[in-house]
Amino acid sequence: MTRHFLKDTDLSPDELTDVLDLAGQLKAAPYSKRPLEGPQTVAVFFDKTSTRTRVSFAAGVSQLGGSPLIINPGESQLGHKESIPDTARVLDRMVSAIVWRTFAQSGLEEMAEHSSVPVVNALSDDYHPCQILADLVTIREHRGTGEGNGLAGLTMSYYGDGANNMANSYALGGVNAGMHVRIAAPAGYQPADQVVAEAQELGQRTGGTLTITDDPLDAAQGAHVLVTDTWVSMGQDSAGRDDSASPFSRFQVTEELMNLGDDPIFLHCLPAYRGKEVAASVIDGPASVVFDEAENRLHAQKALLTWLLSS
Ligand code: CP
Ligand code: NVA
Repeated sequence: MTRHFLKDTDLSPDELTDVLDLAGQLKAAPYSKRPLEGPQTVAVFFDKTSTRTRVSFAAGVSQLGGSPLIINPGESQLGHKESIPDTARVLDRMVSAIVWRTFAQSGLEEMAEHSSVPVVNALSDDYHPCQILADLVTIREHRGTGEGNGLAGLTMSYYGDGANNMANSYALGGVNAGMHVRIAAPAGYQPADQVVAEAQELGQRTGGTLTITDDPLDAAQGAHVLVTDTWVSMGQDSAGRDDSASPFSRFQVTEELMNLGDDPIFLHCLPAYRGKEVAASVIDGPASVVFDEAENRLHAQKALLTWLLSS
């Protein structure tokens, strides 16, 4: 059966550990796996803009022996002239995997339903699971426990828009790894009930927990990782959201918050807005590992593709 990666829980806890281990191996020996030798092609569609995702998939597919086909917004028939099922049925005769950054999660699900090759979510309105894989690799490297999967039992506190793609993926991906995830967000911007329920159910198996709060100080106490994301996600800006009079101001990651943690590292998926969701002194300070995190997109996605293609 073809495996897809549309959301964080598409890998079981054990499978997640396997992919993270493989990412570490590929980081140490970048050309040691060649599942796309041929070269086979991977189609990488973008309905939204990107720097890291585009470059890391292009470089990663090449390093795996394959050839990336980057399709930018508006360049294909998909979504305008041709349905998702027909697109899937054409592509899977020519490419070995389909990577897609888009708006609706339901589009990815429809693509996967009709594709005989793996479909990977490169960010949707609801989830950004490839980013969380890279973040987990980074946490292991810089703050890992050295036991088990290196992550279980650690506390990760996310600040800002608790209802966006990153927050959802931290909730599910973090709990999948057995972590204690705290989401600090204002009322009206907290995770949907369905995400909370799914994380709680998952936590019963992994030992992870999800806590929602509107108290930024409380969320930072004893945390090993502080993380945030833009207050206005792609697609929301054109829908009229702006961050000038923001309900998120109280949730900016500051040195004061960092000082409440347990020697915490700072993560941000980037692009970042200094003086908005994070103080410049934090993202440019000694606890920030955001550029290692960006690099780990490459290693994590190579591991994911290698794993999916062998499953
Ligand atoms: N973090 C991330 O996905 O970056 P891009 O939007 O540049 O791909
Ligand atoms: N929440 C952000 C993540 C960017 C990588 C967005 O969707 O724009």
